[in-house]
Amino acid sequence: MPYAHITGWGMAVPQKVLTNDDLSKFVDTNDKWIREMTGIHERHIAGEGETSATLGTDAAYEAIKMAGILPTELDLIICSTSSPEHIFPATACLIQDKLGASNAGAFDLSAACSGFIYAINMGAQAIKSGSVKTVLIIGTETLSRFVDWKDRSTCILFGDGAGAFVLQASDKPGGIMGCVMHSDGSGGEFLSVPAGGSAHPASEITLHTGQHFIHMNGKEVFRFATRVMAQATIEATTKSGWKEEELALIIPHQANLRIIEAAARGLKMPMDKFMVNLDRYGNTSTASIPIATVEAVASGRLKAGDKVVFVGFGAGLTWGALAAEWSGPVPSDHFIKPEWFRPWARLRSILRRILRILDGIFFGRGA
Ligand code: COA
Repeated sequence: MPYAHITGWGMAVPQKVLTNDDLSKFVDTNDKWIREMTGIHERHIAGEGETSATLGTDAAYEAIKMAGILPTELDLIICSTSSPEHIFPATACLIQDKLGASNAGAFDLSAACSGFIYAINMGAQAIKSGSVKTVLIIGTETLSRFVDWKDRSTCILFGDGAGAFVLQASDKPGGIMGCVMHSDGSGGEFLSVPAGGSAHPASEITLHTGQHFIHMNGKEVFRFATRVMAQATIEATTKSGWKEEELALIIPHQANLRIIEAAARGLKMPMDKFMVNLDRYGNTSTASIPIATVEAVASGRLKAGDKVVFVGFGAGLTWGALAAEWSGPVPSDHFIKPEWFRPWARLRSILRRILRILDGIFFGRGA
C-alpha cells in the first residue's frame, strides 16, 4: 500500500487588511475587547474580483510549484469551502479550469472549519487505495461575504484566505498517518447560515431578516471547541502509534487564542508547541490550518521528519485531527514551471468554450 506524502504547500490572502480599529469605526467594538477575547489583531478581506476560486487558485499554484509538478499531473482536486462561488458548479471545478488541470476529477467538500482535515484524509485514502497518485487539497474562504457587518459578535472573528497542499503517492514510509473525523449534527444550529439552501431558499423575507448571514451562539461553540480539541489530538496521535511527547508541533484551527490555550492545558503542553497566527488573519475557517502550516514551514518551526498534528472544529458540528510525518518537497526535474500554465489554462478554457459553440452549430441535434 503506498504512503501519501505532503509534497507541496501554498497560501494566498487578499491584499486588503482590516484592523480592529478599522472595525470599531463602523461597529460598536474596540481593539482591546477583540484582542483580549479572541487574540485577533487584524484580518484580510477579499476585494472586488477576489473570490474563493481566485484565492484557492493562487494558493494551489504555490503548492504545485513547491511540489515541482505540473497541473496536468493532478488526478484529483478536493476543495474544502463553506463559502463556495455557487451552490453548483463546485468551486473545485472552477479552480480545475483556472489551473488547466485537464486530467483531474474535482469536487467540493463541506465540513466547515474542520474541512481541510477531512479533505486531506479523503485525498490520502484515495492515494492509499491505489486509485490516484497525485491529489490537490484546497481550503478556501471568503466568509466576509456571509458576515453581517452590523453584528459585532461575528464580524470581528472572520477573515478571508486560502491554503493548499499537494499529496503524492510514494513507497517511502511517512506522510499522512492516523486521522479521526467526528460530527454531531444535534449542535448544527449553533453555527449556521440559515437561508439560501433548500430549507429556506433565498426570498425577500430571508433577505430582510438577515437569514443569509452567519448566525452563531458563541458561548456554545466555545464550550464545544474547548471540549474536543485536546481529545481529538490524543486520538489521532494514538492512532498513529505515537506519544504526545513526540510531536514537534500542533497546528490547530485558528479561531480563538483562548480555545488554543485551553487545548494546550488539556494536553498539558506548552503553548510554544502550538502554531498561532490568528492575530494577523482572524478565523479563515477551513483555510486556517494550511495558512498556519505554510507560515510554520517558512519560519522553520516545521521541518522534514517532524511529527505534526492538525486539529480543528467547526460548524456541523464537526471536529477532527490528523497526524502526519512532515515530508518536505521532493526534488523535481521538471523543465516547465507550473506558473507558466496560468495563461495556457486561460487560453485552454476559452478554446474549449469556442469548440463547444462550434460543436453545437455544426453537429448539434435538436431536442
Ligand atoms: N466588542 C465589544 N463588546 C462585545 C463584543 C464586541 N465585538 N461582542 C460582545 N461584546 C460584549 C457583549 O455585549 C457582552 O457585554 P455585557 O456583558 O455588557 O452584556 C460581553 O461583551 C460578553 O459578550 P459574550 O457574547 O457573552 O462574550 P463571550 O464570552 O461569549 O465571547 C466570543 C464572545 C465570540 C469571543 C466567544 O464566544 C467565542 O470565541 N466563541 C467561539 C466562536 C468561534 O470560534 N466561532 C467559529 C468556530 S469555527
